[in-house]
Amino acid sequence: MSLPAIKVISISEAARHQQLYELPPIEVAAIGESNHIYGTLTSKGLQTTADAVTEFFGNPEAIVGCDVGCGDGELIYHLSRLLAGSAWSGFEISAQRVDMCCWHEHVTVWQGDCLKEHYADFNVLHINDLMFDDDLAMQLEAKVAREFSGLLITYRAITAPTLRRISQHLADVPTVSCAFVRRLLTRFPLRLFITHLA
Ligand SMILES: C[S@@+](CC[C@H](N)C(=O)[O-])C[C@H]1O[C@@H](n2cnc3c(N)ncnc32)[C@H](O)[C@@H]1O
Repeated sequence: MSLPAIKVISISEAARHQQLYELPPIEVAAIGESNHIYGTLTSKGLQTTADAVTEFFGNPEAIVGCDVGCGDGELIYHLSRLLAGSAWSGFEISAQRVDMCCWHEHVTVWQGDCLKEHYADFNVLHINDLMFDDDLAMQLEAKVAREFSGLLITYRAITAPTLRRISQHLADVPTVSCAFVRRLLTRFPLRLFITHLA
């Protein structure tokens, strides 16, 4: 009998979801009131993302992708399965969410702060719904501009001058995001850019 691909978790799905969306007070105090809000793409949004990446790379085996603020890693788990041969990893500021990652056989997830991690080893960056204020978003964009070359998928229009200078806008891809905490379905475009380091 073959083993299931996904490690079975011992807590119930309901409890799991509650833990995913509600962080312990100590983490909220450390991260901030709004930055920890959790959302995720619907299956349609996932497929849209996978299609956009495929169109860009052709061969999925060339993809070395990273989800910046990956939560429990579900998005990269699905992307790695939709894009056979691609390699995905992600990092997440909340230790609780990293601990909840149950997709170990397919993705690598670690605890980290996006303003301190490094981006040079990736050729796809997915930065979605980080809920950053403009100042933090600008800091992240400036860091990406210093370190990253490749396909940048982001929910924001780029504002940092350094990143604007090295980025070429490819397309805005309509998709749907589920922001479970707010109990809302929000429609927004994913913005695709190609960035070239100087
Ligand atoms: C809306 S979720 C997106 C999850 C996943 N990327 C997706 O698209 O389905 C954003 C995640 O970013 C995390 N986050 C916020 N600030 C961060 C930071 N400075 N470094 C790393 N992760 C961060 C939050 O804790 C949250 O889990």
